[in-house]
Amino acid sequence: MATTAQLKLDDKEYVLPVMVGTEGEKAIDTRKLRAETGYIAYDQGYGNTGSCESAITYLDGDNGILRHRGYPIEQLAQNSNFGETAYLIIYGELPNAAQRKAFGDLLRQHAAIEPQMQAIFQGYPKDAPPMAMLSSIVASLAAHNPHLATNDFEKDLKNFDLAAAMAISKIRTIGAMIYRYQHGLPYIPPKDIPFCDNFLHMMFSEVYKDYVAAPEISKAINTLLLLHADHEQNCSTSTVRMVGSSAANLFTSLSAGICALSGPLHGGANTAVMHMLQSIHDEHDDGTRFIAAAKSGGKSNRLMGFGHPVYRNFDPRAKIIGKACEDVLNKLGINDPLLAIARNLEQAALKDDYFISRKLYPNVDFYSGIIMRALGIPVNMFTVIFAIGRSPGWIANWREVAANPKGRIYRPRQIYSGPVKRDYLPMAQRG
Ligand code: CMC
Repeated sequence: MATTAQLKLDDKEYVLPVMVGTEGEKAIDTRKLRAETGYIAYDQGYGNTGSCESAITYLDGDNGILRHRGYPIEQLAQNSNFGETAYLIIYGELPNAAQRKAFGDLLRQHAAIEPQMQAIFQGYPKDAPPMAMLSSIVASLAAHNPHLATNDFEKDLKNFDLAAAMAISKIRTIGAMIYRYQHGLPYIPPKDIPFCDNFLHMMFSEVYKDYVAAPEISKAINTLLLLHADHEQNCSTSTVRMVGSSAANLFTSLSAGICALSGPLHGGANTAVMHMLQSIHDEHDDGTRFIAAAKSGGKSNRLMGFGHPVYRNFDPRAKIIGKACEDVLNKLGINDPLLAIARNLEQAALKDDYFISRKLYPNVDFYSGIIMRALGIPVNMFTVIFAIGRSPGWIANWREVAANPKGRIYRPRQIYSGPVKRDYLPMAQRG
């Protein structure tokens, strides 16, 4: 394997170092490129740019491989749960019994939203977009816990265990509260029960009657959150790292990640998939119109839940979630016509040259919405659930940035394509 790369510009040759990751991923180290050659590397969207070294998640898009801290996603989905996987992603190892208990205790102790923060909700219209509420309320965690959010890496890392557990636990509680606020229901405080059961309890309990999740429902939400827990340098995680690189505190960085997640090409896709499946159902179509529109090009016509910036074979999460979707619907005795539409659409697209030649497969969002619908979660809350699930990945990535003594502030370059220098025109001379 090459240990250096040669670059020839005009008559001069430059030698660039090569880096190799633990799974054999290769990179040409261009950090000194501009200083030595005057050139920068142009990579719109960063698809070929390694922005960091990270020990958290390994993703091989060509072969459909996803591993957290070395553990295959299939094994984690089968044997672990969201809380344990969150610990693994953040701290690097599966917890022993004492560590698991201590982490669980912290999550439980910091689940509630204090009255002053509860009052923030009243400032929003009842129909405010849930992700807009989530990002701003999570940002306010920094205002309500300034001792954990000093914007000084050294100090913030000293309090990291508390801040991390608080963030995961409270993002979940805030998510449940957004649902209740929008439905005109009062806040239900958390109980001393497992993480996912607690989420369902806070969402669905009545004032005088606790909601107790059936085991299959609790398992489904666990699987859903676990499958979303981290996904390498996606748009929102890179955003968290970028904001964190300025030494911004954890809560502020997480809020930025939530904003990035909200877009329909990222976390917002699960909502868009459901709207698409519902339209197909309402139009009594078989999906032909959507497939034809998707093939005609344009971002707004895309087949939602299909394609991925890195997976070119299959999305391993989609495989697990497709199966989980069928299981949960069977167990709950639900016959959702949207599942049949999704299956038909998947089959039709997978036989179509447009999708085959572009290596477009169903991604995690294609089936996750059907599970959430079966659990009684409204469509406008789907991306909030994604955000709750993704919080451990964001937190682990923020920590890597904060703990890296050699880390630099993220500051990409650009190729300027605007007007060249010109002189200011007084108003009278403007057309
Ligand atoms: N429907 C139709 N055409 C598509 C789709 C799609 N869903 N996705 C990509 N294409 C086309 C694209 O127009 C391009 O065509 P051409 O070569 O003719 O210009 C070609 O396929 C290659 O696109 P790409 O470079 O692979 O796409 P990308 O990396 O820029 O975008 C994506 C990746 C996920 C934004 C895109 O596939 C998409 O918009 N999918 C639908 C939205 C979606 O499901 N997003 C959730 C992603 S998974 C959850 C997450 O991690 O956020």
